[in-house]
Parts: sequence; structure tokens; C-alpha cells
Amino acid sequence: MFFTFEGIEGSGKTTVSNLVYEKLKKNLPNEKFLMTWEPGGKNDECAEAIRRLILKHSCFTAKTEAYLYAASRAQHVENVILPHMKRGYHVLCDRYLDSALAYQGGAMGLGYESVYKINMEIWKDTLKPDVVFFFDLEPSVALKRIKSNRSATELTHYDLKKIEFHEKVRESYLGIPEKFISVPYKIIDATKNIDEITNEVYEKMVEIIKNDSK
Ligand code: TMP
Repeated sequence: MFFTFEGIEGSGKTTVSNLVYEKLKKNLPNEKFLMTWEPGGKNDECAEAIRRLILKHSCFTAKTEAYLYAASRAQHVENVILPHMKRGYHVLCDRYLDSALAYQGGAMGLGYESVYKINMEIWKDTLKPDVVFFFDLEPSVALKRIKSNRSATELTHYDLKKIEFHEKVRESYLGIPEKFISVPYKIIDATKNIDEITNEVYEKMVEIIKNDSK
């Protein structure tokens, strides 16, 4: 199964996905799991090089960014995600195609259709998530969390954008037309505490994995 975690900055998806991953490995020893992320990806030097480039510079146009994210994704899918899935791994990915649709497509104004096409063009194939967990949170709350939890060196140019941008990203996630999404979002109320959310996501994943192996 292929699970993705989406949401605005500060929504808690990275913390929770890592906790869920550890819990799955511990409690389901007969299953194999991979935790990875985008842009970049686990043990993929070239995708990580694209990640550093995008996060370091804020001068890329929206279109250039869309191609860079899609290039990083193509590299990651071919080199990391698909080979693991072929070897029977369940893959957990912190951000994926829906990030591109929401950020470059919606908030940065390129349009969903054109970002979808760029991604499909670069991949030449489609790999759609079986489940998308969308961590939903008011941007004002998320930005407060970022300020109190991250050091200045950890902040990216996205974290520093005005609240209006984060509001647009959130709306854009929720407005992605059905034809571009693989499955309806499993919406997570990200105002709840970390343990509660971790358990909720974990339970859902175990249910899906068990149903899939029946
Ligand atoms: P991260 O903070 O979750 O590691 O993600 C870094 C930034 O990358 C985040 O601000 C959202 C952005 N992003 C896009 O704009 N488009 C994409 O396709 C992806 C994967 C991430």
C-alpha cells in the first residue's frame, strides 16, 4: 500500500508520520515499511540534491518549481518508491503529488490541470496513493507552532510566507478536483494532540493493511 501525508507547514504531518512508522514496524513485525518524503526522498542522493536546491532559493518561478518538484518526484518514484513496493513494502510518504497540486497548482496560480500534466509528462506513468491523510489546521495555529518549534536555520522560504499564502494552500488542497485525486482525503483534525492523532492514523492504516491482505 502507498500512504501519503499532506498538509500545510506546521500541521504536524511529519512528526505523526514518523511516529506511526515506528509503531507499525514494532507492532506488525511480519510486514515491511518504508518511511520517505518529498521533495527528495530516503537514500536518494539526486532527489535530495533537488530538494536542497528548491528549499535554498526563493527566486524560482512557479513553473520552474513545478518542474523541479516533478523531477524530484520522478527520480524518487523510480528509484525508491516503486522498487520498495515491488519488494512488498508498504510505503509512507511525507508529501507527494497533492502538494504540487495545492502549492504550485492552487496557491501559486499555475492551475491544477497544468501541474497534473507536468507530473504525468515527467513520469510517463502514474503512481497514485491508496490513502491520503490530510492534516487539517488553521494557518494561524500552524504558524504559531512553527515559530515556537523551529529554529531560524530550520525555516524555509515557504515557512516565512505570509498567512494569506498558507490559507490559499489549505483551500487549494480542499479544492483539488476529483479527477486529479486518487482517493478522497482522510481528513485528520490536526488540532488534536500528537498521541491521539498518531493512534487515529495508525488504527486506520492497520485496518487498510489487514483488509488488503485478506
Ligand atoms: P517539507 O517542509 O514538508 O519538507 O516540504 C518543503 C516544502 O516543499 C513545503 O513548503 C511544501 C513544498 N512543496 C511544494 O511546494 N510542492 C511539492 O510538490 C512538494 C512535494 C513540496
